[in-house]
Amino acid sequence: AKILVLHGPNLNLLGTREPEVYGRTTLAEIDADLVARAAAAGHALEHFQSNAEHELVERVQRARTDGTGFILINPGAFTHTSIALRDALAAVAIPFIEVHLSNVHAREAFRRHSYLSDIAVGVICGLGPIGYGLALAAAAQRLDHAG
Ligand code: DQA
Repeated sequence: AKILVLHGPNLNLLGTREPEVYGRTTLAEIDADLVARAAAAGHALEHFQSNAEHELVERVQRARTDGTGFILINPGAFTHTSIALRDALAAVAIPFIEVHLSNVHAREAFRRHSYLSDIAVGVICGLGPIGYGLALAAAAQRLDHAG
């Protein structure tokens, strides 16, 4: 089954965006690394970034019928605001892992609440780009064990 990686708003700016918080790795580098890791594990991987909530909701909806077996998502600021994204993920009922580059618990209070975490398989935050690789390893293992 395919693994779908979703990146929310402003993550297209990775590499230059607040590098002291988010590091210097670009989104293209993160995606290329994930594609390679997924291929090595025998899984197809597709990635999609959008700054628009409705585009992410529509991509999640499409995942129901496009062979997606697992989703990795860094929802960016929509983590803290989007009931719509939560509802979309709940609607398609595809297991997902929530990933954040920064430790959202060590920052402003408004970043501590996520609309997604309680329906996620798991949450990884604060490990920078490595977090995506760890999430992918967990996703691949779950897919392999699910058959
Ligand atoms: C983020 C954390 C969010 O609070 C923030 O709005 C982002 C990035 C992270 O990866 O650390 O855009 O999801």
